Amino acid sequence: MEQTLMLIKPDGVATGHIGDVISRLERRQFTITALKVVQKATTAQLTAHYADKVNEAFFPGLVSYMQSGPLVALIVSGTDVVHACHQMAGATKPSEALPGTIRGDFGRLWDDGAIKNVVHSSDRIEAAAHEIDIWFPELSELTES
Ligand code: CMP
Repeated sequence: MEQTLMLIKPDGVATGHIGDVISRLERRQFTITALKVVQKATTAQLTAHYADKVNEAFFPGLVSYMQSGPLVALIVSGTDVVHACHQMAGATKPSEALPGTIRGDFGRLWDDGAIKNVVHSSDRIEAAAHEIDIWFPELSELTES
């Protein structure tokens, strides 16, 4: 079954939207295959997760945003789940995300320059497999042993 990686980012946790995100996924009949609270993401996890962003000027701010509080990591399973969850997340900037999407409904604008956008959702199947390994390394260790 296809799987994707979602993160409920520190702003999404702090503003109380863990339940909202999970209930939207369940309403779509997707299965939560794994779920964990990460008290503080490590710089190594974030550098691996955002490997294509490390040279961006906003990268240090992105790391401090992602380390500003606990986040929730989820593996979500179902047919076409990568595309569907990416669509459900909505546009990167909450100001551009449509109503009905997670970011459009729960995102807000912050005045510190960071784009805080409630959730992350893998954008491709290959990215999902890589990101699942970053946030759930214990699962790939289990399948390797
Ligand atoms: P996400 O979908 O997790 O993928 C990359 C993240 O980088 C994005 O959400 C935003 O949180 C952040 N981001 C992308 N572009 C910018 C930008 N121009 N300025 C600040 N943060 C950004």
